[in-house]
Amino acid sequence: MCGIVGLACLPGRIVNPARAVRKSLEKLEYRGYDSVGIAVIFNGKIIIKKGRGKIHEVHSKFNFDGTPGNTVIGHTRWATHGAPSDANAHPHSDCLGTIAIVHNGIIKNFDELKKALIKKGHVFHSDTDTEVVSHLVEDFIRKGLKPYEAFKEAIKKVKGSYAIALITAYEPDKIFFAKKDSPLIIGLGDGFNFLASDIPAFLEYTRRIIVLRDNEIGYITPTNVVIENIVTEEKVNVQSRVRIVNWTPEMAAKAGYPHFMLKEIHEQPRALNETLLGLGPEINRAAELILKADRVFIAAAGTSYHAGLVFEYYLAKLPGIMSHAFISSEYSKYSKIADSNDLLVAISQSGETIDTLMALRLFKENGAKVISISNVIDSAIPRESDLTVYTRAGPEIGVAATKTFTTQVLVELVLALKIAELEGTLLPSEYNEKLSTLTKIPKVVEEVILKNEALALQLANTLSYKNNIYYLGRGLGVPIAKEGALKLKEIAYIHAEAYPAGESKHGPIALVEKDFPVLFVVLDDENKESIVGNIMEMKARNAYTIGLLTYGNDEIAEKLDFTFTLPRQEYFISPITYTPILQLIAYYTAVKRGYDPDKPRNLAKTVTVE
Ligand code: F6R
Repeated sequence: MCGIVGLACLPGRIVNPARAVRKSLEKLEYRGYDSVGIAVIFNGKIIIKKGRGKIHEVHSKFNFDGTPGNTVIGHTRWATHGAPSDANAHPHSDCLGTIAIVHNGIIKNFDELKKALIKKGHVFHSDTDTEVVSHLVEDFIRKGLKPYEAFKEAIKKVKGSYAIALITAYEPDKIFFAKKDSPLIIGLGDGFNFLASDIPAFLEYTRRIIVLRDNEIGYITPTNVVIENIVTEEKVNVQSRVRIVNWTPEMAAKAGYPHFMLKEIHEQPRALNETLLGLGPEINRAAELILKADRVFIAAAGTSYHAGLVFEYYLAKLPGIMSHAFISSEYSKYSKIADSNDLLVAISQSGETIDTLMALRLFKENGAKVISISNVIDSAIPRESDLTVYTRAGPEIGVAATKTFTTQVLVELVLALKIAELEGTLLPSEYNEKLSTLTKIPKVVEEVILKNEALALQLANTLSYKNNIYYLGRGLGVPIAKEGALKLKEIAYIHAEAYPAGESKHGPIALVEKDFPVLFVVLDDENKESIVGNIMEMKARNAYTIGLLTYGNDEIAEKLDFTFTLPRQEYFISPITYTPILQLIAYYTAVKRGYDPDKPRNLAKTVTVE
């Protein structure tokens, strides 16, 4: 996690480079926000300003914008090694103050490197793993190496994951970089070049990008980019790697909403529409690969794992294929199981989640094929997959996943329908009919949000005083319930537990007493009658019952204390249409409790450490 930025620009090409980097860091705050800092080269000297706190707090103390200089690096931190503090904030320097470094990732062998450097007389100023790199570079420069050679030698010594940007007072117009297992992207400008952990950081200035790959190392200047592979020592043809992204700066701005999360919830109709329109022949290819495989595994984390559970359900119910979804950090369990006839579906909006990447690598090493579903073009997981189907949700800045979940589910649904058609479970005419239902989803979601937002706000007033809540569903309602519970837990800090409604009597109902909130996801499927029974058992214990159900289910609505209603629909689209209501409930409950839903405590959007 952590966000890093680098900007090298010709004098005057960007009016205030330090300000530009500060603004870029604000775009990356979703990656971590416990401390922040910048380093600038001015008149041959490095100036560092940094401290514990959010960007606006540290900026109001140090005035980042008032720092002159045209070569700037910056960092917004999510602590791994060393508690959040002024000293542990990045950038870090060497003994002489001639080097400054920002880093996202973990240097696993930092302890042993640090001890060796201390023995040589180096003095450290932080508890971070990162600081060893600046001292290593210093050490190699003292031995007579030029800065870039010293940087390369230093990187050869470190083990772990890293996206690094480093500046030295010796070569003031260069920013050195290295990348392994943490994202790093170059933004190409006219008279300036950026480095950043994510594209929105420089979207205001350029849409021409190069997504760096593992083991790539090099430097940017205002007018030049050099990239090589540190293992093979091959030079990269920079021009061949340039891509143009179709994201706009407006997509990465709040557009009048108080929080990114609320904006992103409201963006779902557009995101769904664009995802649907953007699907092409890769759906057929993915469907064929799935049909060819002996076994299908699905690996993902957090919200993407819930999308994985939905896919498992779709495969079982539409083409009738058995699959197994697992939480990607548990990948080691499959080391003896995965084989060359298997297929892994890796789901990751960021395309960078380390656990999902590790699961992917394990399956690949065992010869399996990998399909990924991702929202970020050219990110690590798509790059290492045999095939990727992209969602087109646009940048998601709020830490809690919203539009990326519903678009992932949409892709899965199209894919499951395609598989069903290819294997003959669905006739081509039925397939086309189902697809035409999907084109109506964006409108349905728009209506659902419009009709239920005020109700979500009303329910939030009640929930904001609760300490616990159950989210229950059956069948496809289970992953929806799980996703709703995760949203409430992560942004409103209320203990929320989701499980299949039939399980209550096997234990969890013991906790239920008067006014204990229980939310039911009621779908128009074969489980409806059973779930009514589950509502009744909670009512009998005086629970506070909340339900999401479609119009026309008045008898069920009467049994509930609080109801959200949606248009009648085929039950299989419900993860896309029901979940926005659960997102709104979580959002308004967090706001009511005084929390910032865009920046939940202890969380960062992209988890690039195991
Ligand atoms: C929850 C959330 C996380 C992510 C998880 C996986 O709102 O955002 O649980 O879903 O960290 O991230 P990706 O999809 O980028 O692999």
